[in-house]
Amino acid sequence: MSSTSSSPSTDRRPVTVPAVRSRKVRDGAEPLVMVTAYDAPGARIADEAGVDLILVGDSVAMVVLGYDDTLQVTVDDLAHHTAAVARATPRPLIVADLPWMSYHVSTEDTVRNAATLIRAGAGCVKLEGGRKRVPMIEAIVDAEIPVMGHLGLTPQSIHAMGGFKVQGKETDAAMQLVADAKALAHAGCFAIVLEGVPSEVASLVTAAVDVPIIGIGAGPDVDGQVLVYHDVLGIEDRIAPKFVRRYADLKAASVQAIAAYADDVRTGAFPAAAESYHLSAEVAETLGLYGRAG
Ligand code: KIV
Repeated sequence: MSSTSSSPSTDRRPVTVPAVRSRKVRDGAEPLVMVTAYDAPGARIADEAGVDLILVGDSVAMVVLGYDDTLQVTVDDLAHHTAAVARATPRPLIVADLPWMSYHVSTEDTVRNAATLIRAGAGCVKLEGGRKRVPMIEAIVDAEIPVMGHLGLTPQSIHAMGGFKVQGKETDAAMQLVADAKALAHAGCFAIVLEGVPSEVASLVTAAVDVPIIGIGAGPDVDGQVLVYHDVLGIEDRIAPKFVRRYADLKAASVQAIAAYADDVRTGAFPAAAESYHLSAEVAETLGLYGRAG
């Protein structure tokens, strides 16, 4: 069994970048488990569930902040959420997303933005894109900041892709993905997220590199899986991508709970005497509140 194997109650050693980098399923490793989280309670839940990595994803824009895409969030937004996750001191490795336009202008700007996320509490950063990102990846790695790549359906390219569309469906596009993965691994990425590609292509990419490929909508033949917290728990129920498996229906349970609370307030059933503070009988009597002390 690998050194970062999930064992929520016993192994409290932090998950490290080198430990993640060595997790290839073909070498006998257990698949990596990554889930997003954007705040301290979410981080504690992911930690207690025994995941390996917590991604403070720019998906925060869509599932928490109410935007229609991920392009609206800034480095400061991501740093704010990364710091909240880090304050929970979770055992999983914290991966912070570099948002759109934070690694597109210059290498200096890119390294500074990556450093902001590390200072907020991340153990590494993630960025989207293939070979054209190599100079930025090399600059970040050169500053001793570990980088995770992200290929395939890259949500920050929504306008260039013409929507959230499965990538790598044609021969040439599939071969480009393999070449991109090799270039990212060569540039120093310690792992790569592969999103929204046919399983067969994910399998090719996974076989082509010696760093772990973490899939989302990329089928089973990869080195790990990542899902968005609100999708796994059924908090987000408006969109249901094919690749999401919901393990709970917390939106329905939450609506039911808040409706029951509202009902109890309106009927006077809440709060009960046991849920209220009370004066001593003596003080109540002094105040003329006979028979009303607890
Ligand atoms: O921001 C995010 O949640 C992501 C995952 C979809 C991999 O990048």
